[in-house]
Amino acid sequence: MSALRARSMTVAALAVATVGLSACDLGKKETIQSGFRGTAMEQAYDMNRVDAAYSQVAIPEVLPPAGASPPGPLPWQNVQVLNDISVAEFNRTMIAMSTWVAGTGNCAYCHNLANLAADTLPSGEPIYTKIVARRMIQMTRHINAQYEEHVANTGVTCYTCHVGKPLPNGLWFYASQNDYLRHYLDRDGARVITRQIEPSNGNRSSVKQTEWTYALMISQSNSLGVNCTYCHNSRAFSSWEEAPPQRVTAYHGIMMMRDVNTNFLAPLEPVYPAVRLGAMGDAPKAQCITCHNGAYKPLYGAQMAKDYPAMWGRADWNGAPFPGLYQTPPAADTAAPVVTDAAAEEVAAVPAPAARVRAGPND
Ligand code: HEC
Ligand code: HEC
Ligand code: HEC
Ligand code: HEC
Repeated sequence: MSALRARSMTVAALAVATVGLSACDLGKKETIQSGFRGTAMEQAYDMNRVDAAYSQVAIPEVLPPAGASPPGPLPWQNVQVLNDISVAEFNRTMIAMSTWVAGTGNCAYCHNLANLAADTLPSGEPIYTKIVARRMIQMTRHINAQYEEHVANTGVTCYTCHVGKPLPNGLWFYASQNDYLRHYLDRDGARVITRQIEPSNGNRSSVKQTEWTYALMISQSNSLGVNCTYCHNSRAFSSWEEAPPQRVTAYHGIMMMRDVNTNFLAPLEPVYPAVRLGAMGDAPKAQCITCHNGAYKPLYGAQMAKDYPAMWGRADWNGAPFPGLYQTPPAADTAAPVVTDAAAEEVAAVPAPAARVRAGPND
């Protein structure tokens, strides 16, 4: 083969490569360092995609603030949770919930309009949406009170998961292909890297476990729209010290997920109509994407909950007293989360970062 021919082939190959590259190069890219210098820990974002996803996020307008409560007892007959907010704040919360969950702003989605206090229809049939919604209010307060290490002061509202519709994204049921998601319910331990040999010494590595862990990790990456290195130093996947602080946040997210699924969502099984249950009769459960919807922070970090005291069950946000409280809420639900985990001690030993690493393109 002549040198000339070889050269022209190289040129042709280069031309093809250039066309290929320029096709990928359309749109701006942003690379953000998320780890120590020189460790190549960075997140590469296609800003066109991030901007497109961001523009899809419609955050409902904040309703005008409600006034304080006139003195005197509250007029309600069957309010079991929201009895620490004023009448005006209560009505405001009902209006907000109607758009956050029912989408339509329709009170009848949860109520017997002939008797708003009833938990049943005129026929005597239970209104499951109202009963579920009451438990959801408790769950939302529990998340905001107990998981500051995950949700920070941003917190969550019904809208974080429901985004204007009755059925949030990422619902899952028992099914063999969902086995890895049971790490968010009744299976402990995602560890697959171990230096111990004896099974009796805690070596639980197996091909099956490795598959579950990998599937779980891919689903976490997808849920947040990030690469593995958002939470790991790929030099040592198991090391907490070398990982970005987001991994510890994620760990608290896993604990929160387990608590929420075990103590709130799964036990609602008898309340739902059969059509809402899975093939094995289990209630719908949540996962990371249910709140995150493909963003590194749900709603790209918008702080919706700060305007709605009903979502907190506490007296202030960042030290500023909430308007519209009827009385000081009962001391926030302080019951320690019931779920524990083998890794908890290890995670507790990770030193807190001096400052949060900037890792998201819009942070
Ligand atoms: C997503 C479900 C949901 C929607 C939509 C909803 N509510 Fe409610 N509502 C509830 C729940 C749950 C309670 C009970 C709260 C508790 O026990 O703390 C309640 C209680 C009430 C009560 C108190 C009745 C009493 O005396 O016990 C009134 C009044 C009320 N809602 C009005 C409305 C109005 C008006 C709308 C429409 C703007 C509305 N609700 C939309 C779930 C809903
Ligand atoms: C952590 C995520 C999350 C949050 C926060 C959340 N929900 Fe839900 N909600 C769910 C899941 C998961 C379901 C199960 C979906 C189903 O019914 O199939 C659900 C179901 C419901 C249903 C029943 C829907 C139906 O038609 O079956 C109602 C009503 C509801 N939620 C109201 C609320 C209200 C009101 C709030 C805020 C106080 C709230 N939710 C906050 C996750 C959440
Ligand atoms: C949102 C943060 C996050 C992302 C993204 C993520 N991980 Fe993880 N990873 C974790 C956390 C937290 C744990 C510990 C889980 C536990 O102990 O319950 C973990 C555990 C692991 C483990 C087990 C380590 C051990 O000690 O045995 C491996 C392996 C792993 N991840 C690989 C990956 C891979 C590969 C990806 C990309 C596909 C990925 N991770 C993406 C947070 C993340
Ligand atoms: C109940 C809603 C909810 C669920 C479910 C949830 N998160 Fe989050 N997460 C949040 C909120 C809210 C924030 C933002 C907190 C803030 O403003 O700092 C957040 C922040 C994070 C961050 C920090 C991002 C950053 O750049 O600082 C990580 C990592 C994360 N979540 C991972 C997870 C993982 C992994 C799961 C599933 C195991 C999960 N989350 C489930 C609500 C949720």
